[in-house]
Amino acid sequence: MKRIAIINQKGGVGKTTSAVNIGAGLCLLKKRVLLIDLDPQAHLTYSVGIKAHELDKTIYHVFRGDSEATQVIIPRLIDVSLPFSAHSRYSGEFFVLPSSLDLSGADLEFGGIAGREFLLKECLASVDGFDFVFIDCPPSLGLLTLNALTTADEIYIPLQTEFLALQGISKLLETVEIVRKRLNNEIKISGIIGTRFDGRKRLNREVVERIREYFGEQFFKTLIRENISLAEAPSFGKTIYEYKPDCYGSEDYFNLSREILEKQEL
Ligand SMILES: Nc1ncnc2c1ncn2[C@@H]1O[C@H](COP(=O)(O)OP(=O)(O)OP(=O)(O)O)[C@@H](O)[C@H]1O
Ligand SMILES: [Mg+2]
Repeated sequence: MKRIAIINQKGGVGKTTSAVNIGAGLCLLKKRVLLIDLDPQAHLTYSVGIKAHELDKTIYHVFRGDSEATQVIIPRLIDVSLPFSAHSRYSGEFFVLPSSLDLSGADLEFGGIAGREFLLKECLASVDGFDFVFIDCPPSLGLLTLNALTTADEIYIPLQTEFLALQGISKLLETVEIVRKRLNNEIKISGIIGTRFDGRKRLNREVVERIREYFGEQFFKTLIRENISLAEAPSFGKTIYEYKPDCYGSEDYFNLSREILEKQEL
C-alpha cells in the first residue's frame, strides 16, 4: 500500500484536481485506490459527487474517535470509454474517505492533545487492501498537512507552471525535512506535477525548464495542460474521464497515471 500526500501550501495549484484524476486514472488501470479528503473545504468529496454536508460521518468523526475509518469510506463506481485509448472500455471502483467543514477547527480541537501529529496514521491503522492511498491536503502547512506527512511514504507536489511557481517551495521542503528528521524518516518527495501548462506561452515553457533544473528526475514527464473541462468537471461531481473523456485533461491525467505506474514498477 503506497500512501501519497499531495501537498502545496499554495492554493489553487491543482492538488485536488490531481488527487481525483490520478486516483480515478489508477483505478481505471485496475489498481485499488483510496482518496482521502483532508481539506475542510471538502472539495475532493464534492468533486466526485458526494455531498459532504449531507453525510452523518466524515473523517472528522474518525479523528474524534467516534467512528472507524472503514465505516466512513464510500465506494464510487466509474465506467468510461476512452477515445485516445482506442475507445477501450474501463470500469472500476475507487474509494473516498470524505471530509466536511467540521474539520476546519481541527488545529484548535486536536492541537493540544498528545499524539496530535499521528491522528491520521492511527485512523488508517485498520485500513488495508489498497494499492494506492492519496491524501489531498489543504493549502496550509498546519496540523492537517502535518498529519498527512507523518502518514505518507511519498509526497507529490503540484506546481502551476506560471510565474512564482517555485515561490514558497523552500518553506515546503524545509517542513518536509523537519518531518523526516523528527516524525517520519520514511518520507520522500517522489513526484512533482506540472499543472495548467500552456505550451503557447513562453513563460510557461521557461517555468517548466526551471522546475526541471530544480527537481530533475522527480519531475513527471507528463505535463497537465490548461484545460477548461478540468475546471468544469467538479461541479458535475465527475472525474475528467466521465465528464469529457476526449479532452486534453483526460488524456494528460491518464498518461500521468500510466507514468506513475511505470515508475512504481521500476
Ligand atoms: N489543468 C487545469 N486547467 C484548468 N483549470 C484547472 C486545471 N487544474 C485545476 N484547475 C482549476 O483550478 C482551480 C484550482 O484547482 P484545485 O482545486 O485542484 O487546486 P488546489 O490546489 O486543490 O486548491 P486548494 O489549495 O484551494 O485546495 C479549480 O477551479 C480547478 O478546477
Ligand atoms: Mg484542494
